Amino acid sequence: MGPTLEDFLMTTDRIDRTVAWEALDSRGRPTVACRVELENGAHGRTVVPSGASTGRHEAHEARDGGTRYGGWGVRSAVAAVNDEYAPLIRGMRASDRAEIDAAVEEHDGEPNLSRLGANAALAVSLATTVAHGAAENRPLWSTLGDPAGGDAGARRATIPMPMINIFSGGAHAGRAVDIQDFLVVPLGAQSFAQALEQVSDVRAHCARLLDDRGGWSALVADEGGLSARLGSNEAALELLAEGIERAGFAPDAMSIAIDVAASQLVDGDDIVLAGQGDRLSVDEWLDVVVGWTERYPLVSIEDVVGEDDWRGSSAATRRMPATQMLGDDLFATNLDRVDRGVSESAANAVLVKVNQAGSVSRAGRVLARAQDAGFATVVSARSGDTEDTWLSDLAVGWGAGQIKVGSTMRSERTAKWNRLLEIEAIDGLPFAGASVLGGTA
Ligand code: PGA
Ligand code: ZN
Repeated sequence: MGPTLEDFLMTTDRIDRTVAWEALDSRGRPTVACRVELENGAHGRTVVPSGASTGRHEAHEARDGGTRYGGWGVRSAVAAVNDEYAPLIRGMRASDRAEIDAAVEEHDGEPNLSRLGANAALAVSLATTVAHGAAENRPLWSTLGDPAGGDAGARRATIPMPMINIFSGGAHAGRAVDIQDFLVVPLGAQSFAQALEQVSDVRAHCARLLDDRGGWSALVADEGGLSARLGSNEAALELLAEGIERAGFAPDAMSIAIDVAASQLVDGDDIVLAGQGDRLSVDEWLDVVVGWTERYPLVSIEDVVGEDDWRGSSAATRRMPATQMLGDDLFATNLDRVDRGVSESAANAVLVKVNQAGSVSRAGRVLARAQDAGFATVVSARSGDTEDTWLSDLAVGWGAGQIKVGSTMRSERTAKWNRLLEIEAIDGLPFAGASVLGGTA
């Protein structure tokens, strides 16, 4: 198509300028920031997140190495955006995000975006997505379209059920305990605002219990959770269950979730719980976890075994059919891995992280595929996150059902919760409620 009158008048959503720079994430590490400016004056800006318990199958995050910022610099990824992607996408329309993502992916040329870095590709994808929302002058969640990338239109927009971190271990808390995340799911809440209020109350009770046991609740972990060396993983579960009880909630109104992040605990064929001096076979480990589901209101378990242990994942899903079995590193927001997980019943829910995929379009396709297969979906932040709030809009607009962002403090966490509160207050969308969890509970 030749130039239109709109082009002539510069009122289109064609991309004019794309600029990237190095910014900091919530752990104080460099990350790629990017601003996409459109001819019509709208712009989108993003600061991309970064994980710590990063899966082997994630799209590749480019780091400079060397001595700057301890090797964590991202100048090469910034240069890729400014020198290669900016001219590549100039003149494309922000509303054609799928085409922009495809052009970027093709330009990198590696399936895991390892030539120029997934952090460079994602910066462009996210800033474009935000710019499109700004140009439409509508809430971002309403401008995302069909996550599958077709023209089926948006899924039913809902405010997601949150899964909120109370207690941290693993790579997010100096391995205070082995399991990375102890979370609660406020299944009895009737609205998002009520969910957040209830969980804050549980966190306050757990903080008091921790202090009584000699902990120091003023110190928080990477995702804003409490942390202390409790001696065993079960001690953290006990503390959480007691906090829930003291806050006055029945187990079916305030339930527990864990993210084992077991890839961090795998040694050969075994699971090593260094904090309590145990080395277990996968079957012995699953016996322990099954025991927990019998003693605690445990409704969701993430990455219960290592990221390449398809047999163990399927066994866990078979043994705990009532529980949401959630794959994070197992799926790495990768379509082929989700397809395998569906055909082998290796889980019943998929964690979706856009930076594991490298673009909004890829992540959307993974979410759509999982949902179409009857799996539950949980949109997730990273442990190194930023002040951005697009994640909340993705969870709403894609009808993800669930969201995981960390705890109820630290601004990179509360920015996402506060955006959901805003959407609930302003746009009046329904709260997803308890039925969105995977498993037959
Ligand atoms: P990560 O942790 O961002 O460090 O990977 C989040 C998670 O494992 O769910
Ligand atoms: Zn995880």
